[in-house]
Amino acid sequence: MALLDIHVLGSPILRQETVRVDSITPELRRLVDNMFDTMHAAKGIGLAAPQVGRRESLAVVETDDRRLVVINPEIVLVEGKIRGEEGCLSIPEVYADVERAARVIVRAQDIDLQWYEVEASELLGRCLQHEIDHLHGKMFTDRLSLLKRRSAMKLWDEEKFQYPKLLRVLPVGDLPPERDAASAD
Ligand code: NI
Repeated sequence: MALLDIHVLGSPILRQETVRVDSITPELRRLVDNMFDTMHAAKGIGLAAPQVGRRESLAVVETDDRRLVVINPEIVLVEGKIRGEEGCLSIPEVYADVERAARVIVRAQDIDLQWYEVEASELLGRCLQHEIDHLHGKMFTDRLSLLKRRSAMKLWDEEKFQYPKLLRVLPVGDLPPERDAASAD
């Protein structure tokens, strides 16, 4: 297990369209495990492949009741609108209210490339929409009004100097304790 460095806003890979996943390799399974570990260490509820410097259409999501590997996802139904606060592991310390669909149905493949559908609202629905945005090069700040985006970017201008190579390196001490023994991977 390993913690991955997180690309922060300004890193070009966050703006690229991802590539469809057609086969699952042992390396990709390890990537997914490492993405879960990294997400936990960073205290997030979702993490998309571009955030760890990868091009695959792949994200991991974990809320209280669901733990999902989300591969090649598409939103097949949206319903209603709701505003709620969002942050992003790639824009630390910046939070803002974002309007999202109140309810979505997402079709995606799991780690064995089996298709599944998940109906989601509230936190899980918001998280899925946020992560799927990442897979299309979109950040939550893109969805803010001009004025709110400006103030978010102003805050980020003060924060971003902590990430000179546009990488957020998590302290090793943040590795979940149960994983320490397996760090040989
Ligand atoms: Ni994010």
